[in-house]
Amino acid sequence: MAKTKRNSDWCFRMCTQADLDAVMRLQEIVCAALEDPDLFVATDREENRTYLAAPNFILGCFDGDVLAAYCSFVVPGNTPENYAQDLGWPPEKVCAAAKLDTIVVHPAYRGNGLQRELIDRALALAAHTPGVSTVLTTVSPKNQYSLHNVQAAGFSILMRKLKYGGKERFILGRALFLPNNTETAEK
Ligand SMILES: CC(C)(COP(=O)(O)OP(=O)(O)OC[C@H]1O[C@@H](n2cnc3c(N)ncnc32)[C@H](O)[C@@H]1OP(=O)(O)O)[C@@H](O)C(=O)NCCC(=O)NCCS
Repeated sequence: MAKTKRNSDWCFRMCTQADLDAVMRLQEIVCAALEDPDLFVATDREENRTYLAAPNFILGCFDGDVLAAYCSFVVPGNTPENYAQDLGWPPEKVCAAAKLDTIVVHPAYRGNGLQRELIDRALALAAHTPGVSTVLTTVSPKNQYSLHNVQAAGFSILMRKLKYGGKERFILGRALFLPNNTETAEK
């Protein structure tokens, strides 16, 4: 597939409910292109709808009107969807943990460092979310591209666990703020 290089038409902005169709469409394209379906678990439409409502957000990278990539940031609170529950953290730490849920880049837009850029931008935006101090995410141990990018963004592996109905995942975490770029989430 021909690669699209960054140009001045690209912009990053928060997605709104009006972008939900584009989010679902991009996710379908990415799923259809997966070489291994175990690497990525899709988010259903209703869940993505809730991810578009504050304090959650979906940050998109648009090439003109076309959604090229997005990242969802979710504040799950004290619910089973919070990966801090998997880690056995106490309730106050669970409540202070948010998650980076999905990051997808359209196959034609890969190789522009968009996953890293979306993580950096999303966490900078998340700095305004009251009460959140830790960010958790999951990545398949086989997902070399995502694992590399997430670790380069300061996340550390905290646990390996079967998630999403029996798929191998690392749970990774980092502090929301990295004052000296070396602090990572407590194990
Ligand atoms: C993981 C993912 C977001 C990374 O995309 P990205 O930010 O564009 O990746 P990078 O810019 O770091 O790419 C670095 C190199 O790896 C290549 N690459 C990235 N993802 C690739 C993939 N899935 N398959 C093959 N090559 C890939 C890029 O083309 C680039 O190659 P180059 O240096 O020769 O140009 C993207 O592969 C993707 O959407 N995968 C499917 C969904 C997924 O796994 N999401 C993460 C878990 S939620």
